[in-house]
Amino acid sequence: MSLKRVGILTGGGDCSGLNAVIRAVTRSAIITHEAEVIGIEQGFEGLIFDRNRKLTVAGTKDILALGGTILGTTNKGDPFEYRQFDKDGQLTTQDYSQKTIDNFKRLDLDCLFVVGGDGTLQLGYKLFERGLPVIGIPKTIDNDLMGTDYTFGYQTAVQVACDALDRLQTTGESHDRVMILEVMGRGTGWIALEAGISGGAHVILIPEIPYDLEKVLEKIRLRKEGGSPFSVIVVAEGAKEIGREAITSEAASTRLQGVAQLGGVGNFIAKSLSDRIDLEVRCTVLGHTQRGGTPLAFDRVLGTRLGTQAVEAAAEGKFGTMVALKSQEIVLTPLKTLAGIVRQVPVDSQMVHTSESIGICLGR
Ligand code: F6P
Repeated sequence: MSLKRVGILTGGGDCSGLNAVIRAVTRSAIITHEAEVIGIEQGFEGLIFDRNRKLTVAGTKDILALGGTILGTTNKGDPFEYRQFDKDGQLTTQDYSQKTIDNFKRLDLDCLFVVGGDGTLQLGYKLFERGLPVIGIPKTIDNDLMGTDYTFGYQTAVQVACDALDRLQTTGESHDRVMILEVMGRGTGWIALEAGISGGAHVILIPEIPYDLEKVLEKIRLRKEGGSPFSVIVVAEGAKEIGREAITSEAASTRLQGVAQLGGVGNFIAKSLSDRIDLEVRCTVLGHTQRGGTPLAFDRVLGTRLGTQAVEAAAEGKFGTMVALKSQEIVLTPLKTLAGIVRQVPVDSQMVHTSESIGICLGR
């Protein structure tokens, strides 16, 4: 089919590489298909409240290396269950799905590119089921999406965490301290695992392997006895001790987003360890530094490839799909593959074995 006018939105948490996708979609839609490109602002909110603008080659020329998303994003703009606080501070939800569909139709778009993680892509699929020509483009620093080998944003986040570990190694060694780095990843340990391996961590704790504090203590003591009275621990925000749940906070944003906000396990472990060993323990929470800033070359290339292939898929009318990286190639996979399933680190994977083979303690 010939493409005349396409729309793109970015939803959920931002990550490095989003602008590379926006640029690639814009350029290939205009240069290859002579189509118009409409940028929807702030994720699905832009469709609900009709906020959008035209994207051009000139207007996107300087964004390849830029972090964030020029379109803005939100992780609380669910058109089917839009959450907001009323004037009395009560949380209310509203179904704006028909309004979203009507606004989409008014824009007269041949395709809607939905760039997002699990939640955003599932919303895209729901809109596809309601008749919208949607193509998904997977992103997340967590790398936890089914159907794709890697998501863009992930490698940049791992590099940020690796750099932080390099720095913690030298200060930790100088002071004979136990240095803990808490990284993101929601319910998965991909960032922690790859950052830990690349940053020479002595202990890596991931949600997929509930940890035994005794094993962590044993590792620290053995290192001390062996002449290295410092240790570096990387812990995924979703990691949990055997028999306990992951640590979450009860912020207002949690209620607006409808999902638990993780965080605090690093300081929890720091306190637990301090009570048991004669070494100083310090915790650094890396937080959103993993999401912001300049994307690595890998994420720029992946974003560009996904963006251009998504436009090709639209020209072929292959809606209800998601572009995905599989064994070095960009392929199409049905959007419904996601179905709310989180891709966790397999506990018997080569990566896990690699870590333990070189003496890294995984808390078991
Ligand atoms: O999904 C990406 C992510 O950065 C997670 O790793 C993290 O748990 C969450 O988003 C943080 O979300 P927010 O920016 O809403 O606090």
